[in-house]
Amino acid sequence: PAPGWSVTADVVIVGSGVAGLTAALRCQAAGLRTVVVTKARLDDGSTRWAQGGVAAALGEGDTPEQHLDDTLVAGVGLCDEDAVRTLVTEGPDAIRRLIETGAHFDESADGDLALTREGGHHRRRIAHAGGDATGAEISRALVEAVRARGIRTVENALVLDLLTDADGRTAGVSLHVMGEGQHDGVGAALAPAVVLATGGMGQIFSATTNPHVSTGDGVALALRAGAEVSDLEFVQFHPTVLFLGADAEGQQPLVSEAVRGEGAHLVDADGVRFMAGQHELAELAPRDIVAKGITRRMLEQGAEHMYLDARHFGAEMWENRFPTILAACRAHGIDPVTEPIPVAPAAHYASGGVRTDLQGRTTVPGLYACGEVACTGVHGANRLASNSLLEGLVYAERIADDIVATHRENGLPARVPAPVPHPETPTHPLMPPEARFVIQRVMTQGAGVLRSADSLAEAAAGLGRIHADAARALAENGKTSEPGVDTWEATNLLCVARVLVAAARRREETRGCHWREDHADRDDANWRRHIVVTLNPDRT
Ligand code: SIN
Repeated sequence: PAPGWSVTADVVIVGSGVAGLTAALRCQAAGLRTVVVTKARLDDGSTRWAQGGVAAALGEGDTPEQHLDDTLVAGVGLCDEDAVRTLVTEGPDAIRRLIETGAHFDESADGDLALTREGGHHRRRIAHAGGDATGAEISRALVEAVRARGIRTVENALVLDLLTDADGRTAGVSLHVMGEGQHDGVGAALAPAVVLATGGMGQIFSATTNPHVSTGDGVALALRAGAEVSDLEFVQFHPTVLFLGADAEGQQPLVSEAVRGEGAHLVDADGVRFMAGQHELAELAPRDIVAKGITRRMLEQGAEHMYLDARHFGAEMWENRFPTILAACRAHGIDPVTEPIPVAPAAHYASGGVRTDLQGRTTVPGLYACGEVACTGVHGANRLASNSLLEGLVYAERIADDIVATHRENGLPARVPAPVPHPETPTHPLMPPEARFVIQRVMTQGAGVLRSADSLAEAAAGLGRIHADAARALAENGKTSEPGVDTWEATNLLCVARVLVAAARRREETRGCHWREDHADRDDANWRRHIVVTLNPDRT
């Protein structure tokens, strides 16, 4: 079908979290016609759920060099040092600019930024807002600024595919829009620069801290467009997610690392602090180490979860410092003031994504990626806590500056033919919406926190069956499912899950958040390198 409507701009930003809106504000400020398209409402992505905060060397005695060291250690040999150096040196000013934009961070009694600690940080360097509602405040401030500055936004617009001109340069994106009666159906946003800021893919697993919208749409788009994608095997599991039952599905409440940063202890059912002695930082070891420590203890004891004990904070500290977590626990019948919180790891963050350079450029000319969808090289095999909001800020600004400079040279967008999004073929069937839950179960069983050759082979086979069923339905009926958000999301989930599993099967070692029980050690001789994938768009 031809697009029902289209909008033309100098830059199209896809996604409206910290990365997308920061890029939009800076592009607009430089005079570019800027359009933000986003799958749901402007504040529906992961940013608003971030609790702990945003890391930067802002405290007395702290330096970007120390932040760099902690980031490199957490990334277990796979960080790109230049990318990290850029992050940690530009980070403090990026936060100051965010404050100028209108975000209010918590302050100490003497009026300085209040800073806390999280896993892997040797210093207090996490700025936070509303106690444990940092993302919500950042999102509020950015959304308000975008509205105040009159930046055009299109909500309920799911990105489908990249559109390119005859030379293979970016020319825009096709969209499925549910515009509350304005633009229902397929549309296009045309521009010579497209910024993917679509967030993560946590919904490939059954239990995740990510909201429903985190379905890997940007990585799937990039793969279909022939862009390079890197490090997908490194899915970070957050150690302390409120345990709501072994069968809990969908978005689960996070219990921020900042709770441990302020002194909470991880204990087993007997009250033993099992992280003490495992790492010099105990509960504040890098996230992969704590997630492994919890999982190991659960396996040894046949337990479904461990506990986070912060009763010693007392009611007042809980109410003032962690109001969001307190409310979430109480809503589920747990009172952290009087009892330990049951916690278990759940999928949290994609350390890999669409490969970019230091300007956020992907390998497709004119296509940029920023935030969780991107792999800038700052996270390596395991992202350091609270570096993600910072990455969104710093690299969004760099992308905007690059687009502004390129625009001055190249001028107006090319004309492109009407897009035909997502043609169904036997190799590209649309997935039925219910495939989402099958994918999640297959991934959780075979490619979760603990992996092996056998479990990954089962996952690959399970995903292959889902694909084959849809291809068969297409061959028999001429179509699979009605195109719509649910079908495209399930299609994207399957696409990224298959690539992720293939990468996880190849990496025969344990490193960072990729944990292979059949290859228990880190293997620097063979594997201190990235797995970079490019799919031939005609064969995926
Ligand atoms: C948290 O608050 O524990 C999450 C921080 C992060 O994922 O960086």
